[in-house]
Formats: sequence, C-alpha cells, structure tokens
Amino acid sequence: MKVGIIERQEEVTPTVLRAMAGTDSKRLRTVMEAFVRHMHALAREVNLTEAEYDLGIDFLNRIGQATHDSHNEGILFADAIGFSTLVCLLNNGNAGATEAASALLGPFWRANSPVTENGGSIVRSPTPGPELFAQCEVVDVAGKPLAGVEVDVWQASPVGLYENQDETQAGMNLRGKFTTDSAGRFAFRSVKPAGYPVPTGGPVGELLRAQNRHPYRPAHIHFLGFKPGYKTLITQVFVDDDEHLESDVVFGVTQALVGDYVRHDSGELPARGIRAPWYTLNHRLVMEAGEAVLPKPPIK
Ligand code: BEZ
Ligand code: FE
Repeated sequence: MKVGIIERQEEVTPTVLRAMAGTDSKRLRTVMEAFVRHMHALAREVNLTEAEYDLGIDFLNRIGQATHDSHNEGILFADAIGFSTLVCLLNNGNAGATEAASALLGPFWRANSPVTENGGSIVRSPTPGPELFAQCEVVDVAGKPLAGVEVDVWQASPVGLYENQDETQAGMNLRGKFTTDSAGRFAFRSVKPAGYPVPTGGPVGELLRAQNRHPYRPAHIHFLGFKPGYKTLITQVFVDDDEHLESDVVFGVTQALVGDYVRHDSGELPARGIRAPWYTLNHRLVMEAGEAVLPKPPIK
C-alpha cells in the first residue's frame, strides 16, 4: 500500500496511521493507532530533542537487558509510573465503577508455589520475625463463600526480601498454595511481612533517583485466587501501620486493601507452638464472576 511521501512534520502522524490501516485484528489496530497518536502527541507537547529521544531508546533497551528469569524490569517500570495500577483499577471493581478488591501483580509471583495444607506454615527456612496467623475467607460479590478456590500466597521476609532475592532463604520460602474449604476459608502461618525497597539496580532505580522518589513499598502479603467461573483475583493486603502506606512507590495501596493486622502479647494461641508476640490477620477476599485466566509468571 502506498501511503505517500512526507513533506512536513504534520503529515507524519496521518501517514503512519494510513500505513497501519490494513491491520487484520481490529483490537490491535485500535491499540496501535492510539499508541502512535499519543506518542506523537508527546513528542510535540514537550518538543522532544534528539538527545532525549536517544536517552529514551537507551532506557527502553536497558529495561529489556535488565530482565531475566529472576527479575522483570519491564513490569517494575510499568509499576513505578502507575501504569499497572491504572490498568488494574480499569479492569476490576465493575470495570472501575466501584472500589476494586484487586491490586497489581508485581514482578515476584512465581507459578508452582508449594501446595500447603489449610492452616499450614509457609515458613520453609528459619525466618526471624514476629509470627503471623492469617485467616481468610473468599466470597463472591454477594458475600457467598466460595469453596475450592486455589489461592497463591507470597510475601517478602521481615528483612524485606523475597526468597528468590535472598540466598539465605530456602527456595519457595514464604510462598504457598492453599485451597478454600467448604466455608470458603483458608488459614496459614507465616511471619509479619516488612516493607521493602523495589530493586533499584537498573534503569527504574535511576529514574526514581532522578525524581527524588524513595523506592519503598509498604509491607504486604500477595494473594492470587483462581477458580473457574471467576475472574482471577490478584491482590495484596497491606500492614495498617506502615509508614509508606500513603507513598507506595508503585501506587498499589487502595483503602480496601489495608488489612487488619492485630498484635497479641498474651492470650489464647491461635495455633500450636506460636510464640508471643504474634499477629493475626483476618481478611475477606472478594471474587467477581468472570473468566479464570492466569497471568504469565513475571519470573521463573
Ligand atoms: C511487589 O509487591 O512484589 C512489587 C510490586 C511492584 C514492584 C516491585 C515489587
Ligand atoms: Fe510484594
């Protein structure tokens, strides 16, 4: 298809759009047309210089180069500019109309977490820190308990590192896969998570420093609920007294996701062998009806 010879800068955008007009997939055409229009508008709005163009391309290339089996810089970039949270909130909570029970996946979910019995521990190697006993209920939007939901749980240790970032932790430490019982419930033992800095050794770290932004996430536990007939629930439950709740570097905190972590210094132990002080977390996870699709694991 001939789209014409360009004479002036104003002609670039319509010419590119004409070149893409034969795209078979309607959705791909819609998305790419908008992408080109917005990218061209960005260059015009800021009068992008050639040096800035080079810097941007180098930044993109380095995001790719920094990504490997155990690190996903691409997701980290989308997270750090609020893009992941925006896409999450547009697609959940009645397509953005009501408060969502979802949060961004982040770069640390791994498939094949160890299947763990209801009430079992996800601590798989010595992990110093206050003990945590979590009791969760999974319901549909009408509040009906959902049995047989597979729930992945993953969290950073009290020193703020996921097991795949930390050689001192056993493989799959602080990760587990549970199945809800007939009352839609599951429980697990763990340690209270701590806040942590996102990885700052790559281009995203450079960007954060240039923007004078701290790299911290408030402490949280991740959940991924899967059951055919329901939209896969990806969420996080934040520790309610964390100093970074209102400045999460990746914008993942919504009011609905602030958990009820309660400290206990004495009283009846929620499970055998727990030592004081311990924390409890009671949380309700809500799943919307929809298609059960698993995301692509960001790391292996
Ligand atoms: C996480 O919570 O695991 C996470 C999310 C976004 C960026 C880095 C880490
Ligand atoms: Fe996390």
